[in-house]
Order: sequence, then C-alpha cells, then structure tokens
Amino acid sequence: FQVPKAINEPIKSYAPGSPERESIQKMYKKVYNEKAEVPLYIGSEEIKTGHTKSIRPPHDHQHEVGIFHNAEEKHVEQAIDSALEARKKWAKLPWEQRAAIFLKAADLIAGPYRDRINATTMIGQSKTVLQAEIDSACELCDFLRFNVEYMTEIYREQPESADNEWNRLEHRPLEGFVYAITPFNFTAIAGNLPSSAALMGNVAVWKPSDSQMLSAQVIMEVFKEAGLPDGVINMIMGDPVMITDKILARKEFAGIHFTGSTDVFKGIWAKIGENIHTYNTYPRIVGETGGKDFIIAHKSADAQMVATALLRGAFEFQGQKCSAASRSYISNSLWPSVKERLVKDVTSIKMGSTGDFDNFIGAVIHEQSFDKLAKYIDRAKDSDEAEIIVGGNYDKSKGYFIEPTVIVTTNPQYETMVEELFGPVLTLYVYDDTKFEDTLHLVDETSQYGLTGSIISTDRYAASVATDILQNSAGNFYINDKCTGAVVGRQPFGGARNSGTNDKAGSKFNLLRWSSPRLIKETF
Ligand code: SER
Repeated sequence: FQVPKAINEPIKSYAPGSPERESIQKMYKKVYNEKAEVPLYIGSEEIKTGHTKSIRPPHDHQHEVGIFHNAEEKHVEQAIDSALEARKKWAKLPWEQRAAIFLKAADLIAGPYRDRINATTMIGQSKTVLQAEIDSACELCDFLRFNVEYMTEIYREQPESADNEWNRLEHRPLEGFVYAITPFNFTAIAGNLPSSAALMGNVAVWKPSDSQMLSAQVIMEVFKEAGLPDGVINMIMGDPVMITDKILARKEFAGIHFTGSTDVFKGIWAKIGENIHTYNTYPRIVGETGGKDFIIAHKSADAQMVATALLRGAFEFQGQKCSAASRSYISNSLWPSVKERLVKDVTSIKMGSTGDFDNFIGAVIHEQSFDKLAKYIDRAKDSDEAEIIVGGNYDKSKGYFIEPTVIVTTNPQYETMVEELFGPVLTLYVYDDTKFEDTLHLVDETSQYGLTGSIISTDRYAASVATDILQNSAGNFYINDKCTGAVVGRQPFGGARNSGTNDKAGSKFNLLRWSSPRLIKETF
C-alpha cells in the first residue's frame, strides 16, 4: 500500500522577467488566437454534434476563443452506456493501475500541460496568472496526488481477525455510474469531481460548466494522455435540465458528485427522490453548494491584519469562490483604523484583462452574474441602510467588470449580508464591542449557509467563544486568517446547512462516498 508521498505542488510566482512569465505569456497569446473546438468525449469518440455555442473571455466578450458542441438526448444515453461498458474492466483493474494513471495526470499538469491549463483558465474564467496557477495547476495536482494517498489509507484499514477467522474489507466501486456536475469557478474542482470517483473504481458521466469549456478540454486531454481507458470518464455538455433528467432516469445511476448552486442541487435531490424506485441501489448524493462566508474582527485584532484578510478574502478570484468573504462584522472601536486601511488598499486594486499580467483581478464570469451584482450595487446606492465606501462602479462594454465594492450597512439582515452574491462585493456591519457574544449569535442565526468563516482576535477567550458559538456556521473555520484558501492535504474543505453535504473535498471522507465496502469473512 505504499505510494509516492503526496506533497503540495509548489506555486510558481511568474515574476516579471522570469522564464515562466515569458512562457505563459506566449501560451496565453496562442490560446487567445487559436479558436478551440471542444467536442463531446464519449468512450473512444470525440463527437462534434454541430449544435455549438461560442466561448468568449469574460474580460473581452466580443472576442471568440472557440466553440463547444452540445449533446442531444441520444448522446446522453451513449455516454451512460459507454461508462457502463468501461466499468466491466475498470472496476476490476488493480488499484495500483488506477493510481498510476492519476499520478501521471498530475505530473502532466505540473509539467508539459501547466502553461496550457493555466492559460485556458486565465482566458476562460478571467483569472490572473497567480489565480490560475493556484487553482488549475497546483490544486488540481494536489487533489490527484493526495487522493491516491488517501485511497491507500482507506484500503489499508482492515477489521480485526480471530482464531480460524480472517475478516477483510474490500472497497468495491458503486454498482452503476457516477454523475459529476462541475462549476465554472475552479478548474481543480472540475478535474477532481469525476476523477475522485474514478480513482475508487467508478465510471463517470461528467457535465462541466458551459463557462469553463477551455480548461475542461485540457483536463480530458490530460486524462487520456495519462492512460485513462475510454469510457471511464465521459464529458458531455448541453441543456443541463435535459442531461440531468436523462441521467437520473437510468436505473444504473449510483451517485452524484456536484458543485454548484443550492437551488440546482436541491432540485436534483428532489428528482432523485421522485425516481427512487427506479434505481438498482440507493444513490450517493454528494454536493458542495455555495456560501455566505464571514470574517469577524474582535476589538483585540490588528487592524491591518483585518483589512488584508478582508481584501484577500473578498476580492481575490473576483470574489467568485464559494468560500469568499462576503460579509464581515467589525468591532466599533477597531472600525476607524480598519476602514482607513481597507479603503486605501481596495482603492489600489488593479482590475482588467488577465492578458495584462499586472492586474490583481479580472472580470466576473458572464452577463447574468454582472447584471445581478450591478442590481445589488444600485439598490445599495439607493438604500438608507447601506453606504458604499469603496467601489460601486461597473462596466460591461468590453468585459464584465465589477469594481471591488465595500458596502457598510446598519442592518445585519440587509440583503447583501445574507444572500449569496458570488462576486467582488463585501458588506460590513459594525457591532458594539460590548455586544460581542450577541453578535456571534447573530452571525449564527443569519447563516443559512455553513461553509467558511473566520475570527480575527488576539484575545484567546474571544476566539474560543466564537469557535463554540459558531460551531455549525462554518465547516471550515479559521482563527486569525481570511476564510479562503483551503489547501488540499491540510484543510479538507466543505460545509453543511445550505452549503452542502460536507463530504470534504480532498479527503478520505469524500473518497469513502465512492466506495461500497464488502466484508469478507473466511473461516479455516
Ligand atoms: N477551496 C477554495 C478555498 O478554500 C474554494 O473553493 O478558498
């Protein structure tokens, strides 16, 4: 059960003048001009259905960088049948062979495919080079490598035996296929959801987000080059309702691995319930579904630390992380010094095309998201309960640019304090120092989500009280840090309430959902 020890892929800095900066700049230009064509990947076939949609960078939406093909109903059936056919051999392949494929995939991403997966992520998701490096190169490698290590730990754990009796646990894949639905915002999540199930011996039908087509194609190419047999992961795009309905109607549907919106996930859960008598086995339902993540600053905190945590937590990755800090509670005695620093720092953020390597943030993903954010900003401008202290401008003439915006509200239930926005908008509520514990209860009571949160405090008693009162408000709780940036292998990631099933991406908890263990007792 020994595999190469997983280590986190080192993050490259892409400093100006470095060879890696030059290399990624070349690749960026190449991808920008080459016009990708993304087919469906079903079994050994790459299918071009002719029903295409355009792929455009969010920061330059008049420029087409490629097209992708959409599935018809028959392709969905074909993808499921290919998966089930591949399962006959894949489920029996020794785990070392499966592990080797995904370890090789990680090496391909870390090496020859690094620039391509980063450039496609920069262009497709409007990420800066560092955001892309952290997500698509490093985090995806980390998922692949750590999952292999966790798999072996799972396999190694065996029950006790006794005289004349040998008990062994065998980790069988689920009996059927797994459906993976992945979001636009992380290339790493897109790679992880189908591959973690496949690593445990399962086969998958994978529906990536329409807004993440360029890097999804790279993931498929990498898996193929690494030796993944045809049909183990089948990638199909198209009408999500049609695809999901077809898939959930099949008796061999054995599980869903989902990251996306709460409403979509609940709709899928309900449909699975409606179809429950159809299935050969109870399907596994695993989902991560958003957040309304918080940073609380105690009066004992360092003001600059709070300002930096807010800026990084709220605005890195354009705020398009389910872990992003989107609400904050600041002690009134600390507020003047935090405000001064925050306004100064946020005002200095450079936003623009990710082709200009000096920008700190890019555009939001698409027009729908832009319009939603712009409406929240407009309402805040008109509200008596809200004041915009930085930002508040937006412009979609060339790209979907929302200026990093900080709203201060007097109402802790104000809409941007409780609703998920998924963009670079942060809302703050200044609380009375004498009401610290009441404020913690308020945070908990207004947390319909439960993904991430943090307390910044040099007072250990205050940190401990927060950790206790907020025990169900965040599946990832940080003390003296921002609430983003979980690293695979160090901070398993996920939350409960409306944030998901808390099966912790990048952990044994997650991999175990893709196993149906069999106990074999043999007597002598
Ligand atoms: N895992 C990421 C973070 O912790 C979010 O997807 O920020």
